Amino acid sequence: MTFDLSSLTLEQKASLLSGADFWSTKSLPDAGIPSIVLTDGPHGVRRQAGEADHLGINDSLPSTCFPLAVAVGSSWDPQLAATVGAAVGREARAFGVSVVLGPGVNIKRSPLCGRNFEYYSEDPYLSGVLGAAHVSALQKTGVGASVKHFAANNQEHERMRVSADVDHRTLREIYFPAFERVVREAEPATVMCAYNKINGVYASHNRWLLTDVLRTDWGFEGAVVSDWGAVSDRVAGVAAGMDLEMPGSGGATDRQVVDAVRSGLLDERLVDESVRRVVALTEFASEPTGDLDVDGHHALARQVAADSIVLLKNGDATLPIRPDTRVAVIGAFATAPRFQGGGSSHINPTRVDAALDAIRDQSWAEGVTVEHATGFMVDDSGDAAALRAEAVAVAARADVAVLFVGLGDRDESEGFDRETLALPTAQVELIHAVAETAAKTVVVLSNGGVVSLEGWHDEVDAILEGWLLGQATGSAVSDVLFGHVNPSGHLAESIPLRLEDNPSWANFPGEQGHVRYGEGVFVGYRYYTSAGVPVRYPFGHGLSYTDFSTQSIVARVVGVADVEVDVTVTNTGDRAGKHVVQLYVAPAIAPVRRPMRELRAFAKVDLQPGETATVTLTLDHRAFAYWDIELDRWVVAAGEHLIQVGTDSATITHQVAVSLAGDTIVRELTLSSTVGEWFGHPEVGPLLMQGMSAGMSEEQAQQAADNPDQLKMVESMPMQQFLAFVQGAIPEEALEQMMQLSRSSMGSR
Ligand code: BGC
Repeated sequence: MTFDLSSLTLEQKASLLSGADFWSTKSLPDAGIPSIVLTDGPHGVRRQAGEADHLGINDSLPSTCFPLAVAVGSSWDPQLAATVGAAVGREARAFGVSVVLGPGVNIKRSPLCGRNFEYYSEDPYLSGVLGAAHVSALQKTGVGASVKHFAANNQEHERMRVSADVDHRTLREIYFPAFERVVREAEPATVMCAYNKINGVYASHNRWLLTDVLRTDWGFEGAVVSDWGAVSDRVAGVAAGMDLEMPGSGGATDRQVVDAVRSGLLDERLVDESVRRVVALTEFASEPTGDLDVDGHHALARQVAADSIVLLKNGDATLPIRPDTRVAVIGAFATAPRFQGGGSSHINPTRVDAALDAIRDQSWAEGVTVEHATGFMVDDSGDAAALRAEAVAVAARADVAVLFVGLGDRDESEGFDRETLALPTAQVELIHAVAETAAKTVVVLSNGGVVSLEGWHDEVDAILEGWLLGQATGSAVSDVLFGHVNPSGHLAESIPLRLEDNPSWANFPGEQGHVRYGEGVFVGYRYYTSAGVPVRYPFGHGLSYTDFSTQSIVARVVGVADVEVDVTVTNTGDRAGKHVVQLYVAPAIAPVRRPMRELRAFAKVDLQPGETATVTLTLDHRAFAYWDIELDRWVVAAGEHLIQVGTDSATITHQVAVSLAGDTIVRELTLSSTVGEWFGHPEVGPLLMQGMSAGMSEEQAQQAADNPDQLKMVESMPMQQFLAFVQGAIPEEALEQMMQLSRSSMGSR
């Protein structure tokens, strides 16, 4: 919309920079500026009609609860992420919501983070691709997105005040790229800044974060909105580019902004810029339109859920369950499913499918009989031993026992982190008892964060990781159990053997106001693969009811560092299924320590039995680059990079080497640069060598030639110190000239 900024008073402008109430912005009817509604998000619309809150406590209007990001992450399917985004957008339109608060693309740094269910992955590339697909599809419906929580919000513990102490390379390589991809590819209407500090500065008034990186580097043109209550210094926030404070402050911070401008502390032009960006959001203003497609969206939720389930283990082809099977359905979650997480994303679902009902309804599985036992109580009430005994009796009469276990609402939620990966004890004891009795045991997990499989993994025949699948969970699980849907999910996060193996363990969740990201870029599988630490199931793992075989991988270098890769894959089994081609890059040696391999491209392909397909994936400069903190930019190291295809991050089946010229980096030389750096400089090095040999006696020159190791010994010595040893060998003037030369040839060539 066009509006005349100059017609607004400073007070009016400041008023637009904070909410009217919990969920809406202020309007200025005389200036033609309407109010808009922002609401959660991300996997459904939480439209509160009565009392408002940001913790999911008070009821909201019924809407479809789609599979959560933790599930969609495991689908490795951007089309499914888009399906969810578009459907959420349609529901938002029906409610008259302009901006939906999501998706969350924070990295799962620790499996303990209480909010991992709202995030896609431990990998930034996977998170970014899925997040961008969600946002593009959502915004096509005319509704704005709010990609969150920017940035380094990777834990719930002290989330409102902790300082995430992260080096810049790690921010650029791990914690930023998902946001960057969403911003560049999908142009979200808003970015939500996080509660926490980053290296000591609150995200809500971090100018480097919100302006230098987000706007200058990535070209973000939308508005930055605060997480609910994240503002700690409103005036510094406006100066940093934090446009809209939510919820409203009753006018208190608006007055601070006015006073700061009047007293010369804040440039009014910054207020104007924020006003323009907030007013631009009213483009998304919408009256409630149409009805919810309750049935259609439930069916979509079921389809997305089924394609997100990960078949972790399937000994003796226990699954799918065949006709004429006596099935024991055990566990409280079979009748009262856990399908979403607690907190601001909590949806009031239009309906909920329980697995027991769905299994009883299996029309395609003839002769299947079903018996049920509760097995345990989610809240640990009841007589655990009696419940277990009843379940064992039911399991004894069955051909297959299917156990529905997982975490309850009390075990994980927004607002706090878990302290253990273990399943509740009563459930573990139940698994032991049933597995000992039943002919076959299948475990179906419902959990927002990774749970440990240790202690019982080897006792059961099959495991389905269901995560939190949204309101159609029961029917989706049943679709996979009976083979109506062939599972095609893959882990978007590693399942460790022990919590202590996780690279963030020693530093999570921090202490005395700081959490140190000491593992740097070695997050999740980047660490496990590099350090050779075994895991129960690696990132990328996921089985199918059919078999796939990768036939070949061919790579073509098409630019300085652009590579096209053809991967040919065949469905060698007897069932249609979807295969995920996972492409990793094992980079060439660089001046910084790099992970063993990193996911750089993927594609999900649908193949009929016997069908072969070739997918072409493109790797660009970034796929090979690291972030160079000295140059403050991406750099590709010259040399041989390996392009690898794997069935997961730990199992590489094919690889091909590409030789890249890389970026020639010429750094400035100073007296603090090392002797090695001086000699290694492409222009200065040869000059220095010449100059030094000229100044040497024949004997000295011979000695140097006979002892090449001597140079190695002094290689890491700063030039300043070296000069003291070789007094007079390099005239000061010559040094000055060489430093000057290095300055003029700085940067990349
Ligand atoms: C959460 C956000 C959410 C907001 C509004 C906050 O507590 O961190 O993700 O969008 O509340 O409910």
